[in-house]
Amino acid sequence: MAARGDSKHWTEAAAQWIAWARAPNHDAFWAYRDALVDYLGTGGGQALDVGCGEGRVSRILKTRGCQVTAIDPVAELLKAAVQAQSAHDCAIAPASELPFENESFDLVVAYNVLMDVVDVPGALKEIRRVLRKEGTLFISIVHPLADLELLAETAPNAPSEPRATYFDRRRFETKIESRRLTMHFAGWAQPLEAYVGGLESAGFAITSLREPTADLTEGRDHMSRWSRFPLFLWLKARALAA
Ligand SMILES: C[S@@+](CC[C@H](N)C(=O)[O-])C[C@H]1O[C@@H](n2cnc3c(N)ncnc32)[C@H](O)[C@@H]1O
Repeated sequence: MAARGDSKHWTEAAAQWIAWARAPNHDAFWAYRDALVDYLGTGGGQALDVGCGEGRVSRILKTRGCQVTAIDPVAELLKAAVQAQSAHDCAIAPASELPFENESFDLVVAYNVLMDVVDVPGALKEIRRVLRKEGTLFISIVHPLADLELLAETAPNAPSEPRATYFDRRRFETKIESRRLTMHFAGWAQPLEAYVGGLESAGFAITSLREPTADLTEGRDHMSRWSRFPLFLWLKARALAA
């Protein structure tokens, strides 16, 4: 399947991501995994993992007793998720076109995905459509404070261009090399108000918010800066009655 719109970057970066995400204790994810498991809780039910990548969050949901459906627009990533038996069902799809009936899921998870989506309000509206009335949406995003740090590090624009601000939706691209692995991240940073506005306009109310701190045990000293300020922001939301 050809790359569609905003999935072009992830099609190109798929092999890098599979190696990066699966290297033990490598990606930041491992410093938050236990907190994530606690925050997701138990409960089973039908869960949808939107933008599942190679499937690590789907696998957690499976061990939490959920019947898991995983979607991703990038065929190579979904193939890796299937090979690792990450989910019970899967489909190649973007968040904005979910191939499911209305109100199919008790839980929808979008873990570090919305930064990659061009039309965040459209994706949230589509997620709202497939979520059951009493269902929960769980979102993890890169914390806007961490984006701000990236913005501060960005080289100044050409004198003729206005300097980007926190309040802009802005493209980011960063290449990280660490322990003989390379990962090229790219996506959009936007202010917190834009995410919350997208939730509001899709008919969601936020019910819970966490700013998890990195677990520095097991040799994760390289993550110590993230015990001073947050790398991720976690939200749970519920659909408001229509
Ligand atoms: C940082 S990876 C996170 C993968 C996975 N959620 C995890 O935490 O391991 C971002 C994922 O978002 C997916 N993605 C990009 N654009 C998307 C879209 N429009 N709809 C759904 N997923 C998208 C990418 O293909 C990639 O798998």
